[in-house]
Amino acid sequence: MTRVLITGGAGFIGSHYAHHALARHPEWQVTVLDKLTYAGNPDNLKDLEGHARYRFLRGDVASREDVALAMEGGADIVLNFAAETHVDRSIGDPEGFIRTDIYGAYALLEAARSRGVKRFLQISTDEVYGSVPQGASREEDALMPSNPYAASKAAADRLAYSYHATYGLPVLITRASNNFGPNQYPEKLIPLFVTNALDDQALPLYGDGLNVRDWLFVGDHCEALDVVLERGTPGQVYNVGGGNERRNIDISRAILERLGKPPGLVRSVSDRPGHDRRYALDCRKLRLLGWSPRTPFDEGLEETIAWYADHRDWWEKIKSGAYLEYYRKQYRL
Ligand code: NAD
Ligand code: TYD
Repeated sequence: MTRVLITGGAGFIGSHYAHHALARHPEWQVTVLDKLTYAGNPDNLKDLEGHARYRFLRGDVASREDVALAMEGGADIVLNFAAETHVDRSIGDPEGFIRTDIYGAYALLEAARSRGVKRFLQISTDEVYGSVPQGASREEDALMPSNPYAASKAAADRLAYSYHATYGLPVLITRASNNFGPNQYPEKLIPLFVTNALDDQALPLYGDGLNVRDWLFVGDHCEALDVVLERGTPGQVYNVGGGNERRNIDISRAILERLGKPPGLVRSVSDRPGHDRRYALDCRKLRLLGWSPRTPFDEGLEETIAWYADHRDWWEKIKSGAYLEYYRKQYRL
């Protein structure tokens, strides 16, 4: 049996990866460690309850004690998804980002180094490169993060690398572009706009709406992580991009069009401070390992919209605030 620790596994990407891991790797014994912040949703893991090779631990990656408990009995592979992840929240209050994204990574790296972990995968982001006016970021480019979220992720990314360089911990680092798909918390662009449109609410588009992101379907991201775990070289960084550069305004229009809603629902609002204009990744290094994204953007968007349309129960309690009550009851808090 291979003992695998997935931190942040109740969130969007981590929960997709937990399902993917159990389905694809019959020899894996999976532990999810998650603090269940506002972004951690037990519903994302509900169908795994009772699974023989899965256990859930509620705990904080920034607590050395919680991390020690999660790794009790050893761990062969660690995937660190746990993070505060929303740029706008990081602008309002950076402290939680410093604590979870940086100190949490440190606590995990320390525990991993004393327990002989064979693969430590730090899930980083394209935001560490900062805005890219033209061309595409390569793994060796300078890091120029421009908001507290991106800066905290850049710190963790380089801290992870330092544990490879200094202590020989087999660390791998992936920098993915904007993910989308089912189960994404409706504060991020696509799920916010889809759920607002479903309710005939305005879509708050920042600035001129011409900022560009590269969109990666979450299932393709999960596959890339496996490729990096299996074939990546410790100490190396791998960009993971979807190859789907889109302007925010075009995403908004595509969502409204698919839902048959009027274009007038788009509402221009004041811009995000320090708003990066464009992200783009050069993914040749990962392609050489045999990965390329499989989901065409339109197909992924269609699937995502259909999922939110069919899962009102999932997002209505989050958006209505009743989620908090539900969550306290669920966990007897
Ligand atoms: P998310 O916000 O949906 O989920 C984060 C999860 O981490 C939640 O379940 C939350 O409860 C948990 N968490 C937060 N603080 C914790 C703590 N102190 N201890 C334990 N658990 C804690 O995030 P996501 O979009 O799924 O992103 C997952 C990872 O992927 C993050 O590291 C993020 O930086 C990275 N990433 C995300 C994207 C994207 O587009 N979403 C792109 C590239 C990289
Ligand atoms: P977001 O989903 O927050 O991801 P990130 O900031 O990590 O790229 O935002 C994606 C893009 O959409 C970004 O350019 C900001 C923009 N945006 C809006 O225009 N309105 C919104 O309400 C949100 C949440 C984002």
